Amino acid sequence: MKQFIQNLPKAELHLHIEGTLEPELMFKLAKKNHVVLPYNSIEEVRQAYHFTSLQSFLDIYYKGAAVLIEASDFYDLTLAYLKKCHEQNIVHTEIFFDPQTHTDRGIAFETVVTGISEALEEAKRRYNISSFLIMSFLRHLSQGAAFETLEASLPFKDKIKGVGLDSSELGNPPSKFKEVFQKAKEEGYELVAHAGEEGDSRYIWEAIELLDVRRIDHGIRCEEDEKLVAYLQKTQLPLTVCPLSNVKLKAVKEMGYHNILKLLHRGLLVTVNSDDPAYFGGYLNENLEAVATSLQATKEEILQLVENGFRASFLSNHEINKQKAYFASMRS
Ligand code: ADE
Ligand code: ZN
Repeated sequence: MKQFIQNLPKAELHLHIEGTLEPELMFKLAKKNHVVLPYNSIEEVRQAYHFTSLQSFLDIYYKGAAVLIEASDFYDLTLAYLKKCHEQNIVHTEIFFDPQTHTDRGIAFETVVTGISEALEEAKRRYNISSFLIMSFLRHLSQGAAFETLEASLPFKDKIKGVGLDSSELGNPPSKFKEVFQKAKEEGYELVAHAGEEGDSRYIWEAIELLDVRRIDHGIRCEEDEKLVAYLQKTQLPLTVCPLSNVKLKAVKEMGYHNILKLLHRGLLVTVNSDDPAYFGGYLNENLEAVATSLQATKEEILQLVENGFRASFLSNHEINKQKAYFASMRS
């Protein structure tokens, strides 16, 4: 199964670039940029990665991101992830970045976008990996701050495919960002939002009905509402599920209880993704392997989950059809 997963060409749709910061690079950049970390060693960093909730993770994740200062830091971070994509046979990736995590520390929006984009271009040349960039608004901040971020993004519209919503979900429902998502849509951005990770099914409905999103990030709590499951089945609105993340952040008790295959069998367009792989113990292949091992997924189920990654992507219909044909050939 491990080799089967490795060999499949894959797409990843839910990946925070700041969540790919491995402790080794964190220490290297901290030294270069004279940033003081609250850890004495790489081992100590890894020891700190025991989370009890989404918030307990975010507190550590934002501290780590403070080592990213220059465009070359964002370039190195992104290229390291894309090298991993190449090793794991990920041929297309749609990457989140959190502009406010950096602009609030005085780093220019341009510095962040330039560093990341140059790495994406290099990976296209070097590895033939295609990619899109999605900027996420931090939902623990105000809608006004999100409007400022949207404004700052406009000169770089050619480099940014869409807009997302992440950070602390509980108490920060999608309705808080209705107007800024409307404006982002008018600007031509694709729309996605984290919903139903820790928040209940009402957060998912709000993301659909008030924000008009094209995908739900996580969405695993949809199961609590039969009407919502039926809606997701009928519309094929995708869920970008992150199994290792859900277990690490205690959204799911253990992998054996994860509902991803249940949702797949109910006809939902579910995909597998790694979220913040440097913090959660695995990249995309490890997530697929965990599903295969703990939920006894068959090769056909893995094939369907991986094909769904392309179907749910923002690639052109032409590209998606090419991938569908490939997966059809795998079955015959
Ligand atoms: N930012 C990075 N990872 C996240 C997650 N899993 N949920 C919400 N915000 C995030
Ligand atoms: Zn996420």
